[in-house]
Amino acid sequence: MDKILVLHGVNLNMLGKRNPEHYGLFTFEELIEQIEQFGSSYNLKIDSFQTNYEGEMVERIHQAVGENYKGIIINAGAWTHYSYAIRDALELLQAPIIEVHLSNIQNREEFRKISVFESLVWKKYFGEGLESYFQAIKELMREA
Ligand code: DQA
Repeated sequence: MDKILVLHGVNLNMLGKRNPEHYGLFTFEELIEQIEQFGSSYNLKIDSFQTNYEGEMVERIHQAVGENYKGIIINAGAWTHYSYAIRDALELLQAPIIEVHLSNIQNREEFRKISVFESLVWKKYFGEGLESYFQAIKELMREA
């Protein structure tokens, strides 16, 4: 069974309580459940990881270097816009990386338009809520 690692960064555990205009009303647990269900329709195992600590995210990425993932999906939250530490960790991965965001980061504050992961990620999906994750999974499966 193929597996995909879905990484969730800082503040994403607060979904359901964060600005619903940008992030919707679903909780983080509901997000995980939906992603796992979507993955199972492709016979995929989804491993999910969320942390609010940058170093923990870096260490989870290090661990993934030795694991056999078909792809990595990352919504790093605000870290996307400035974490060179996470960027450098992602550079260690062999598997394709897709960046996702629930909200339309191109249509909000200027700082959100910048992604320090830009040169490393294969594709980017944003602004579609949950659908952004589904599109990323579909894209990784197209590569099968
Ligand atoms: C986000 C967008 C980021 O700018 C923000 O800091 C988040 C969530 C999104 O999914 O839309 O925490 O990554």
